[in-house]
Amino acid sequence: MPIFEDWVGEVRQMRAVSERRAMFPPASRAPDEGASARGIARALGENALLAFPPEAFEEEVVIRGFFGRRQVILSRPASIHHILVDNPGNYHRTPATIRMLRPLLGRGLLLSEGEDWRHQRQTVAPAFTPRTLPLLARHIAQATGALIDELAECCRRPVDLLAEMQFLALEIAGRSMFSLAMDRHGAELRELVTGYAEHLGRPTLLDFLLPLPIPSPREFARRRFRRRWMALIERLIAERSETAPEGTPGDLFDVLSTEERDPDRLADQFATLITAGHETTAVALFWALYLVAATPEVGGRIAAEAAPLDLGPDGAAEALSRLVYTRAVVQEALRLYPPAFTLARQARGADTAGGIPIPARAVVLIAPWVLHRHQRLWDQPEKFDPARFLPGAPPPERCAYLPFGMGPRVCIGAQFALTEATLVLAAMIRSFHIERADSDPVMPVAIVTTQPDHPPPFRLAPRR
Ligand code: HEM
Repeated sequence: MPIFEDWVGEVRQMRAVSERRAMFPPASRAPDEGASARGIARALGENALLAFPPEAFEEEVVIRGFFGRRQVILSRPASIHHILVDNPGNYHRTPATIRMLRPLLGRGLLLSEGEDWRHQRQTVAPAFTPRTLPLLARHIAQATGALIDELAECCRRPVDLLAEMQFLALEIAGRSMFSLAMDRHGAELRELVTGYAEHLGRPTLLDFLLPLPIPSPREFARRRFRRRWMALIERLIAERSETAPEGTPGDLFDVLSTEERDPDRLADQFATLITAGHETTAVALFWALYLVAATPEVGGRIAAEAAPLDLGPDGAAEALSRLVYTRAVVQEALRLYPPAFTLARQARGADTAGGIPIPARAVVLIAPWVLHRHQRLWDQPEKFDPARFLPGAPPPERCAYLPFGMGPRVCIGAQFALTEATLVLAAMIRSFHIERADSDPVMPVAIVTTQPDHPPPFRLAPRR
């Protein structure tokens, strides 16, 4: 199997290069000699961060051939603005993105286009206005308080903070959007999402080559996955419909079920919001804790800022505006480890974006992973420095910082996520000194989101 061996060799070589370059915070880069289209496609299945060549972190645009099509890695601000804000109608999600995400998200908001997208966005948006943040803060404080009590009990043992953050974020998403406690189904839901990201969510060569209507061999397994996944989502919906909370103002579920009469569409939206609403925030929290564990002075400042505040259910909403430093740490963690590592678009027609010609059907990659570590856009891009985001610091260059995207398809849950990450980080760091329990290198790996290559154990000690 010479092709397979080539590939294994190529990926091993990429990994060796990226590990040699591992630094604090670790970065993954592609091999210096530049990869073939096949090498790029295979790196995308192994770790998409390795598919960005070193020059992407220095140049405004890198253009390469990708199986007969142009692939354009864009870091020029005017070009990014053109694509995401000025002319978004000319760009749609790529077939490979749709193949990878459709089994999980169906035809919900993230994967819809055109009039269908506009209608869905209008329906969902009212649930994410600033008006809803106090209620959200209450849910966050309750769920985080319960986790901190549990962790305080088992402080002596090493803790898997990635898994803890994934369960916490799922609990918060379930309670705040759908008034659902996730204690009964959380483990099964997490197992399905994790299993998908580890195996079926990895694109193969054929996922890039075949037109969308032709199933790739892996698609049959993805369809089986989807049947199991949607059966679970339908059970959650049935449970929520039977136990409508009394005396509370309607939640997002009430709004969606009034607007959407088609049960399959309702299930897709539910799956989209519950998945997009917890997986990304959980990894953002993991990376923030990982960075703080490595910099005790940052942890000390967060703890001091949070010490006088009421972070309980009644006080969390008000405390938020005073967690200025903690929020800057979250923003800096989102810079170094953006959970959504790339926004991929395919051009419908030929266009010129900020002076760069984009041929019809070209794939454009606007990659927070690249932009956030770009030599031209940041001073010492590899350095963890929350002061970049403190009031009074010069704002990042336009389009240099896009953890939540930009334009009409900007993340609908951005404020939700920032509120959650800030309150959880403050409460965790105020309660515990956190340090790594081992010293094995942790490499970021991007499949569906930017995750650690393995969940490192942490040691927690009560702060007071
Ligand atoms: C740190 C956490 C999060 C990050 C980094 C993140 C990132 C993003 C990004 C970059 C996009 C735009 C994708 C594109 O333009 O291709 C997006 C879209 C989206 N996000 Fe988030 N997100 C986060 C949390 C959330 C939360 C908490 C929710 C819901 C509760 C959510 C729901 C969505 C949805 C539904 C879309 C699609 C919007 C549309 O296409 O109109 N996200 N997210």
